[in-house]
Amino acid sequence: MAEEGFPVTTLVLPVTAGGDPAAVEQAARLVRAGRLVAFPTETVYGLGADATNTDAVERIFAAKQRPHSDPLIVHLAAAAALPSVVQGAPPLAWALAERFWPGPLTLVLRRAEGIPPVVAAGGPTVGVRVPDHVVARELIARAGVPIAAPSANRFMHTSPTTAQHVLADLDGRVDCVLDAGPCSVGVESTVLDLTRDPPHILRPGGVTFEALRALVPNVEAPTRSTPASGSDAPAIMPAPGQLERHYAPRARVVVFDAQGPAALAAIAREAERYLARGERVGALLPDEEAAALAGTGVHIQTLGPGKDLAEVSRRLYAALRALDWDRLRRAAGGSLRSVAAEDDAQP
Ligand code: TXA
Ligand code: MG
Repeated sequence: MAEEGFPVTTLVLPVTAGGDPAAVEQAARLVRAGRLVAFPTETVYGLGADATNTDAVERIFAAKQRPHSDPLIVHLAAAAALPSVVQGAPPLAWALAERFWPGPLTLVLRRAEGIPPVVAAGGPTVGVRVPDHVVARELIARAGVPIAAPSANRFMHTSPTTAQHVLADLDGRVDCVLDAGPCSVGVESTVLDLTRDPPHILRPGGVTFEALRALVPNVEAPTRSTPASGSDAPAIMPAPGQLERHYAPRARVVVFDAQGPAALAAIAREAERYLARGERVGALLPDEEAAALAGTGVHIQTLGPGKDLAEVSRRLYAALRALDWDRLRRAAGGSLRSVAAEDDAQP
């Protein structure tokens, strides 16, 4: 779907997960020309542009309809490029890079002059990481510039873990999508602020608190924003872009933070209430709990074995999208109400 100011056709380039020099070179040329390229990382697909080019970065905000107050992560092909993006990285940053890069850890450090303010919501810091995906690193290396990239979804939508998810949100608004299949981690990177002492986790993600604590014993856990009941507004705003509704699908989401037969009975009771009102209900459940809701009329999406959190993370966003769009929306024939999520569905 073409819209004024956006490319008419989004070029989809299939690549193998191990890379594909011709396709990646074509995408890298677009990045060098200031265009937008969606690309796979191990966490989620990113919406990339030359991080040193203000006009190119502006295109990211326009395509996503994202407010400029939400800063972008800059992606590097290797840790050695860190000094081109940040000033005075402390020894701890290098130690974390050595241990966790390439991988799902974003470090917030002091922004270097070569990175324009638009990348960082005008602030003095910048988030940076080296993604653990050959295609991503090959793209950055061939582009020859650091690549600024938020998740490749429209603002407030669920992050994309396949190229199809990217197209569902951004077809006609990005120049190119490199399609290397599903992401292996499936949830975003952990964002760690190293400009504070003690270092503080701004967003939980692919690298766990426990893993970070092994290297940063005084690391502070993320501050959970707890909305007052009946209110949409978070009680506190721990970091830009961390609103509770940030990951909200269209459908209303209720998170049951509990396990076992009592929790399943509570879910079944609640589902029954909605169904009785004629609403459509979907449930995201670990494999072993799916049977509890069989035959109730609830659309079930399984997430893999409950003990296998890596698998659950990998499948979570795709399952959320599948319920939200394919089943609930189509089933409702477009009459689904858009209601604020009661809670986010992050692991
Ligand atoms: O896994 C990921 O991190 C993915 C892939 C594409 O790398 N990217 C991603 O970007 O999730 P995005 O823009 O959807 O989320 C980045 C978040 C921002 O919303 C903000 O909360 C935080 O990271 N962030 C980025 N730069 C920051 C900064 N300078 N200070 C504080 N928080 C920052
Ligand atoms: Mg995002």
